Amino acid sequence: MRIAVYGASGYTGKLVVAELARRDIETVLVGRNVERLSEAAARAGLTAVDGAAIRRAESGDHAALVHAFQDCSAVINCAGPFVLSGEAVVRAAIAAGCHYVDIAGEQRHLDRIFSAFAVPAEVAGVTVVPGANDDGLPSDLLAHLVAARVRPVRELVIGLELIRTGAMPSRGTLRSALENIDTFTGGGLGYEDGRWHPDIAARHTTLTFPDRSDPMPVVKFPLPAVVTVPHHVAARRVAGVVRAELAAAFADITPALIDGVPEGPPADSRRTARWIIVVEATSEDGRHACGIVQGIDMQGTTAVIAVESARRLVADGAKPGVLAPSQAYSPSDFLEFLVQHGVHWSVDATGCAVDGRQVL
Ligand SMILES: NC(=O)c1ccc[n+]([C@@H]2O[C@H](COP(=O)([O-])OP(=O)(O)OC[C@H]3O[C@@H](n4cnc5c(N)ncnc54)[C@H](OP(=O)(O)O)[C@@H]3O)[C@@H](O)[C@H]2O)c1
Repeated sequence: MRIAVYGASGYTGKLVVAELARRDIETVLVGRNVERLSEAAARAGLTAVDGAAIRRAESGDHAALVHAFQDCSAVINCAGPFVLSGEAVVRAAIAAGCHYVDIAGEQRHLDRIFSAFAVPAEVAGVTVVPGANDDGLPSDLLAHLVAARVRPVRELVIGLELIRTGAMPSRGTLRSALENIDTFTGGGLGYEDGRWHPDIAARHTTLTFPDRSDPMPVVKFPLPAVVTVPHHVAARRVAGVVRAELAAAFADITPALIDGVPEGPPADSRRTARWIIVVEATSEDGRHACGIVQGIDMQGTTAVIAVESARRLVADGAKPGVLAPSQAYSPSDFLEFLVQHGVHWSVDATGCAVDGRQVL
C-alpha cells in the first residue's frame, strides 16, 4: 500500500507522515515546496531506502497532481484552507484513480465535495471521505450509533468542547478559520427538512458536558458532522453547537495574530489538550439517546484518524462515491480502534444534558 500526503510539509501533514512511518506504510510526500517536503521526510526518519518519495505539485497544476498521485492507492490531503485548494486535489485524486481522505474542518468545503464529486468519484470507482479529523470523524460515527437507538429521529444535536490548557490551535487551523470567518462567526450550516442552510438556527442554549456539573451556554457552530451526518441518518434536524466562549474567540482571529503564533503547539502541550463530543438524539415521539466520545491531542489524533481512514479504504474497500465516515467504515469498529490512542466513547452515557434536562 502506498499513500500520498498532500501538504506533507505542514504541521499536521508532518504528523500524518510520522504516523504512516510508524505503521510502516509506504509514503509519498507531495506539495509545492521540495525543500520543506524533504525536511518533513527527514523529520519522520524517512529516506529513499524506506520508499519515501518527494514529488512537487502545485494545487493549480492538475497534470502534476495526477502524475504525483497516479501510482498511489490513496491520498491524504492536509493542505488547508481547503476552500482554496481542496477541490483541485479531490479532482486529481479521482483522475488518478486514488481513494481520497482529508482532514478539513471547513463546512463549505465538505458541502462542495459532496455536491460536486459524488458522481465523478462513483464513475471512477474511487471513494472520497472528507472531514476525517479529530472532531469530524468521531462525531459522525457516534451520531450514527446514537441515532440508531431512537428512530425515527426528530432532532440530533452535536456538541463540541475543547479544553486546550495551553495548547494553541495550529497556525494552519487559524488560517483556515480566517478564510471561513463568516461561517465561523455566523454559526454555519444547519440541517432541517432535507436541506442545509445557514439560516437554520440551533434551538439549544445550554449543554452539560461530562465532568462538568453546570450546564454551559452554547451557540450554533459549523461542525463538519452537520454536513456529513444527514447522508446516513434520517433526522428531521441536525445542529452543531460549541461553548459560547469558544465560538466568540473566532472573532479575535486576525492576520497579525496568525503571523505571531508558532506553527503549532509542541508535542508536550498538545497532549494536555482535551476534546469532548456529545451527541443527543430525540425521536419523533420524544425519546432520547445520548453518546460521548472524548480524547486528547487534537492534532495527533487527527493524524491517527486520517491514516487509519485511508488505510481502511485501501485494505477493506468501501463503495465508490463521496461518503460520510459512517458510510465508509463500521462506526463501532473504528471508535474501538481509537481506544488504544486515548479515545473513550460510550452510547447512552450519563451526564449528557441539553438545555439542563438530564437525558439518562
Ligand atoms: N491540526 C489539526 O489537528 C487539524 C484538525 C483538523 C483539521 N485541520 C486542518 O488541517 C489544515 C492544515 O492545518 P496545519 O496546521 O497542518 O496547517 P499548516 O501547518 O499551515 O500546513 C498547511 C500545508 O498545506 C500546504 N498548502 C497550503 N495551501 C496550499 C496550496 N494552495 N497549494 C499547495 N499546498 C498548500 C502547505 O504547504 P507549504 O509548506 O508549501 O506552505 C502546508 O504543507 C487546516 O485546514 C486545519 O484547519 C487540522
